[in-house]
Amino acid sequence: MKRSLKEFILKMTEKLNEEKVLSFQQFEGSDDYIASQELQEAVNVALLLQKPLLLKGEPGTGKTLLAKAVANALNRPLFTWHVKSTSKAQEGLYTYDALQRLYDSRFNDKNVSDLKQYIKYGGLGKAFLCEQASVVLIDEIDKADIDFPNDLLHELDAMTMSIYETGETFEAKHRPLIIITSNNEKELPDAFLRRCVFHFIAFPDVQQMLKIVKVHHPKIEDLLLDQLLSKFYALRNVPQLRKLPSTSELIDWIGVLIKAGIDPQKLAQKLPFLGTLLKKEQDLQLVEQLMRKKSDLR
Ligand SMILES: Nc1ncnc2c1ncn2[C@@H]1O[C@H](COP(=O)(O)OP(=O)(O)OP(=O)(O)O)[C@@H](O)[C@H]1O
Ligand SMILES: [Mg+2]
Repeated sequence: MKRSLKEFILKMTEKLNEEKVLSFQQFEGSDDYIASQELQEAVNVALLLQKPLLLKGEPGTGKTLLAKAVANALNRPLFTWHVKSTSKAQEGLYTYDALQRLYDSRFNDKNVSDLKQYIKYGGLGKAFLCEQASVVLIDEIDKADIDFPNDLLHELDAMTMSIYETGETFEAKHRPLIIITSNNEKELPDAFLRRCVFHFIAFPDVQQMLKIVKVHHPKIEDLLLDQLLSKFYALRNVPQLRKLPSTSELIDWIGVLIKAGIDPQKLAQKLPFLGTLLKKEQDLQLVEQLMRKKSDLR
């Protein structure tokens, strides 16, 4: 009896999985982007619910790169929008180049009454006009002022773009997958959060990091990589570090060590090229002091 129940559950799970595959394209990571199970699920939930995916996590944990990986894996075009402190939500849809029009009007070689030529589409605008479903990256949303996410709400909900200058209105042909990254510099409003699927990219554990490093340095020997990772995690565990070294810094550090030719014996006494991992002079001094005292990081 027990066995047949187990078999039944297994069969149902398989069936559900099959149905899910049929009903929407799923993200399962890619050759050059290692995504945890939880991150894959978050992307797939965002695809299923057709809601933006809001990503947070330490710097260098692959938030920005994810959009590229998802676009590649799902074979969709990627439109990126790097938010700045001066960005306005409207710019994601389009901007009107009044200055160019004024400039053109000085010469008589262009029809300046055709306003369409002065409309420049932003990442969201391009995605709305795209003939196929795309991925839009809104990178570092927390850089802009507090009104920015609130102003975006309407566009994200309605998926329409009205161009005031030409009187045109476009409805998104396909709802794009929107990936929004934030480094937590500013709080995002609740109304905005309500419309998103949220995922915090946890700092990779050793097993996950092994896979990430191998994507970037496929030829590295396992034994050496183990040794470097244990140094790296020991470094991250040093109390009072002001800025913890990130995945991308680890990848750079290993890259330099490989290029310079590493002597695994010497790693116990000295960590070379520390400046690729630590970016604050107080952190460098602290670690150098510790190494002098203990002659190793543990
Ligand atoms: N899961 C991963 N798989 C493969 N490479 C990764 C992964 N995570 C991080 N990396 C590496 O780290 C680099 C930094 O990633 P990315 O720029 O996406 O981080 P981020 O979280 O956006 O950082 P920041 O908050 O500073 O913008 C990537 O270029 C890549 O080399
Ligand atoms: Mg980033």
